Amino acid sequence: MNWPIGGGWSLESVEPKTFMCEVWMFILAVNFWNIFGAGVFGSIINLPIINYFEHATYLTNNHAHGAMFGVKGNIALGGMLFCCQHLIRREFWNARLIKMSFWSLNIGIALMMFLDLFPVGVYQLMAVFDSGFWYARSPEIVSGSVFKTLTYFRSLGGNIFVFGGVIPMIWFILSRRSKLLSENNP
Ligand code: HEM
Repeated sequence: MNWPIGGGWSLESVEPKTFMCEVWMFILAVNFWNIFGAGVFGSIINLPIINYFEHATYLTNNHAHGAMFGVKGNIALGGMLFCCQHLIRREFWNARLIKMSFWSLNIGIALMMFLDLFPVGVYQLMAVFDSGFWYARSPEIVSGSVFKTLTYFRSLGGNIFVFGGVIPMIWFILSRRSKLLSENNP
């Protein structure tokens, strides 16, 4: 559709200078993790009676991962990519690679949380209820078979995070150094 906007211009004839789609994915992920990683997983350990027992167990780690990477990590990456799209020549933008990195980072962190940090945190909390605060943090528990098995599961998410997310993103940024827009010819 050709919307007239006056002065002989139409929206169709205005060439968009930015390609925001991938940046928006990171911003949407911030909203998701703000509710889920910070809000839900923060709230369930916030109540004093729960916090009294769970303090510094893996339920805290679970919340910290969801909130720190989910909110702070995604906003940092979104901000960085927002700047990059103004600096890199459009033909050298790689939407597929950025999308792959986005999904790997976010699915990777979610798998780390759901396959290991959350279940192992609940297991530790049960150990606090049964045998006390000290026991849940003893080598018997944190080096025991349940912890070990779930830590292996966690490496599945960790590998997706690093190999599908972090490394491609670093490669993308470093490899675009020679593809920057010229100051005189934006
Ligand atoms: C973007 C927002 C947030 C970020 C980045 C964040 C990050 C963190 C981190 C890294 C820790 C671990 C600190 C440590 O181990 O010393 C933590 C602990 C904690 N957070 Fe958050 N958080 C956020 C929002 C929230 C919200 C909204 C709540 C509650 C509704 C909450 C409740 C808690 C509680 C209760 C602890 C202490 C757990 C314990 O006793 O071990 N957080 N947070």
